Amino acid sequence: MDTATKSVELAKIAAEIAVCRNCKLCEKRSKTVPGIGSPSAEILFIGEGPGKSEDLQGEPFVGAAGKFLNEMLASIGLSRADIFIANVVKCRPPENRDPEPIEVETCWPFLARQIAIIQPKLIATLGRHSMNRFLPGLKISAAHGQPKRRKDGQVFLPLYHPAAALYSPSQRIVHLADFAKIPAILKKLESQSTNF
Ligand code: URA
Repeated sequence: MDTATKSVELAKIAAEIAVCRNCKLCEKRSKTVPGIGSPSAEILFIGEGPGKSEDLQGEPFVGAAGKFLNEMLASIGLSRADIFIANVVKCRPPENRDPEPIEVETCWPFLARQIAIIQPKLIATLGRHSMNRFLPGLKISAAHGQPKRRKDGQVFLPLYHPAAALYSPSQRIVHLADFAKIPAILKKLESQSTNF
């Protein structure tokens, strides 16, 4: 699929999300947050769900955690225009509670279609909820920063959620060190290496 077609297909999904009433998260949302970025991104970041700023603006990671995410991207020479960012659920869970399993399941087809269109070389999960949607049973404290190829061939990089570092400078170093691995992982994937 060429980039223009991917863009059209992603816009169709965003339009469906905008009118979605499939779970109760629709009741309290201001805006839906379908995801944003390059339709042909090599790397797809997946967070958990929109927070307050995201709900108001309709874009993922525009609050404090998003600022740190931008910093980490810049540290490896990437900007938001190079990547795609989406969330496991597209509407804000009230009071920033964890999304309920039924909400994650109900929203899943949107994310599955986004992944199928973008076909990223690498999916970087942000936080344990996003990681466990794809790699159930892993512990983020052990899995972060280590690329993992699933049986279906998709490669994942579990990362801590950027919000976890907001009040802990020592954690920022860990986050930045995990991000620093991304260029080499992408390079390895370009050479079709299978040893993840
Ligand atoms: N946290 C997330 O997981 N996603 C966002 O979009 C913002 C904060």
